[in-house]
Amino acid sequence: MNKHLRENTELWDSAVDGLGAAPKWLASKWFYDKTGSELFEQITELPEYYPTRTELSILRGATATLAAHMPDDTALVELGSGASVKTKILLDAIPQITTYTPLDISEAFLAETAKGLQTDYPDLQISPVACDFMSDVSFPDALKGRAKVGFFPGSTLGNLNPRNAIDLLQRARNWPDVRSFVLGIDLVKETDRLLRAYDDVQGVTAAFNMNLLARLNSELGADFDLDAFAHEARWNAEDARIEMHLVSQAGQTVTLGQHSFDFASGESIHTENSHKYTPDSIGAIIGKAGWHMAEFLTDDADDFAVCLLTPQ
Ligand code: SAH
Ligand code: AVI
Repeated sequence: MNKHLRENTELWDSAVDGLGAAPKWLASKWFYDKTGSELFEQITELPEYYPTRTELSILRGATATLAAHMPDDTALVELGSGASVKTKILLDAIPQITTYTPLDISEAFLAETAKGLQTDYPDLQISPVACDFMSDVSFPDALKGRAKVGFFPGSTLGNLNPRNAIDLLQRARNWPDVRSFVLGIDLVKETDRLLRAYDDVQGVTAAFNMNLLARLNSELGADFDLDAFAHEARWNAEDARIEMHLVSQAGQTVTLGQHSFDFASGESIHTENSHKYTPDSIGAIIGKAGWHMAEFLTDDADDFAVCLLTPQ
């Protein structure tokens, strides 16, 4: 079976499981085909979506602090690298980084990004790995015996439930020769601001959410009527997370191969969690994963934090 089919099989199994469950859900990692990655980049430019510009400003002011935890000849390993925009801040300021290994599930976008980066940084050794970062990552040979620093910006950790977040950080803690880990996390704030960040007036976040159904139609031959679903962002106070949903606007049946899924009017598909943290809640997660919080760097408004983790 070729790689493409294997991917589709995983998407298929995941969709059949999630749409057959009560309540219905789809895993947020499936947002990211090439269109999804491009839509995410548009989200990062929205006035309402404060996380990206806030984290960029924290990183710009933190390079000397971060550099102090990176030995010579460091291999920077980035989880969910996307367009590698934040990476450039580190590459420009920290000469110890000689190898860059971006990990991302969005294969075509990753390849294109790595190619562009190689043009801008001709001396940097770039070894991208298209993979699910929740599975065991097999590092390229170039990383054998090399000091490694993890980079996980964007609060992508928040898209995982706390158990999976601990597992992932624990796995990174066990990477051979890992020296430190730079983690970006979004912080709890007023609900209105959070809701606006996930339901922008231009409708880009809605398009990003809806792309999931477009993908099931184009890649798996499902027959979702995109006009019959609406994007919704909800704040779940108990779990301190923004949830994205796609809400059925009518009673309807959707088919996927031999499967059919009935929707009541108002029934939703839960498509994403985006956990928001406090210093205590993130402290508990990183402690359980075997890391020590060496630095907790925030912006003036305490909207976002960059955590510098070192092995316990
Ligand atoms: N780091 C960038 C992009 C964040 S968007 C930033 O901070 O702006 C989240 C990225 O993680 C996307 O590029 C997406 O393709 C990737 N991603 C999401 N789930 C993933 C998974 N399970 N495994 C690998 N990559 C994943
Ligand atoms: C990638 N991830 C951290 C984004 C977030 O904020 O949870 C994805 C996103 N979803 C809606 N807008 C952006």
